[in-house]
Amino acid sequence: MVLQGAICRLRSVVSSDVGTILLWENDPTLVQFSDPHTPYTKVQIEEFIANQQLGFKVNGQIRLMIEVSDSVVGAIDLFDYDGSCAEIGILIYDQSNRGKGYATDAVNTVKAYAQSLHISMLKAVTDSSNSASNALFSRCGFVKTDNNTYFCCMNRVIAPSILSADFGNLERDIKMLNRSAAEWVHIDIMDGVFVPNISFGFPVLNVVAKHSTKVIDTHLMICEPLRYIERFVKAGSHYVTFHYEAAEDIDACIEAIHAAGAKAGISIKPNTEVAVLEPWIEKLDMVLIMSVEPGFGGQSFIAHSLDKVRELKAMIKAHNASCIIEIDGGISASNAAEVFSAGADVVVAGSAVFCAENPEAEIIKMLNA
Ligand code: DX5
Ligand code: ZN
Repeated sequence: MVLQGAICRLRSVVSSDVGTILLWENDPTLVQFSDPHTPYTKVQIEEFIANQQLGFKVNGQIRLMIEVSDSVVGAIDLFDYDGSCAEIGILIYDQSNRGKGYATDAVNTVKAYAQSLHISMLKAVTDSSNSASNALFSRCGFVKTDNNTYFCCMNRVIAPSILSADFGNLERDIKMLNRSAAEWVHIDIMDGVFVPNISFGFPVLNVVAKHSTKVIDTHLMICEPLRYIERFVKAGSHYVTFHYEAAEDIDACIEAIHAAGAKAGISIKPNTEVAVLEPWIEKLDMVLIMSVEPGFGGQSFIAHSLDKVRELKAMIKAHNASCIIEIDGGISASNAAEVFSAGADVVVAGSAVFCAENPEAEIIKMLNA
């Protein structure tokens, strides 16, 4: 069925047996909106979005809506690196398919499509009272950041390290990151024993968690990480990464992070071989390759880290694991392209972002490097 009157032109249709994604170009001449099951006009869709208060219209354009059964389970935004509109689309489902696991396929279809467009991040907005939709997005690898929002890392992600932020103006700096194209915020916890420096602890993390709308990525450079994992998750971390060299029982750390409801990462120092991680690669959500000796911001990138990223990428592939790769230390717009093309998904940047005259522009520069 084709309806007249919408303001976007159909650009392409991606179909699977569970639904249809319709993509339009922004074109006032426009033309059609169609769906095999439930026809909507553009006006109806807009009303629908307004009523659900999903707030995912960006630049006046509808991004992506997923509907399962008779209620919306989530809206997904496709972000381009500079935050501009990438693609728009709607995925709609036949309600008779409810409960058959098709929603998972549908979200994965969206992910695969977004991947092919080199979209950096998917954002899903759900009704927090809908436990089925919450379960759906976390099953599909999204990380929950507040009651209604999930993020899914697709390609390039920048994680500015607040170690280099202005602590006298922390709220201001976090709000700057909220506006920026960086999707994560990196929290460096140093205990003065595992590394020769002390950074900060829970009170600072609490401030970040209170003001940040981004994925909170906590990097524990501490001895006996197991003792503190639960508290770091409770304080708002979405990812908790501990050091291979600091953990006595790696399985216990991974399990504690998962049990507390966060994603689990492990980090290795520059002199630790990637191969030591193989026994855990299928259990981990992330591996963090240190590209400087942990302890201080502002150091120079160790070139050998690129080989470690490549080796890790190959290991992940060989195991068909879904673990993502983060790299941390000495990265700026001048070498971001190299680390991304070596296979890093998430790049930490402290001084490059916060010492830049325009941190938001610097982040975009790194994403587009
Ligand atoms: C080092 C920290 C890094 C550091 C990165 O121990 O883990 O996150 O803050 O800072 P830059 O980007 O300045 O090297
Ligand atoms: Zn770090």
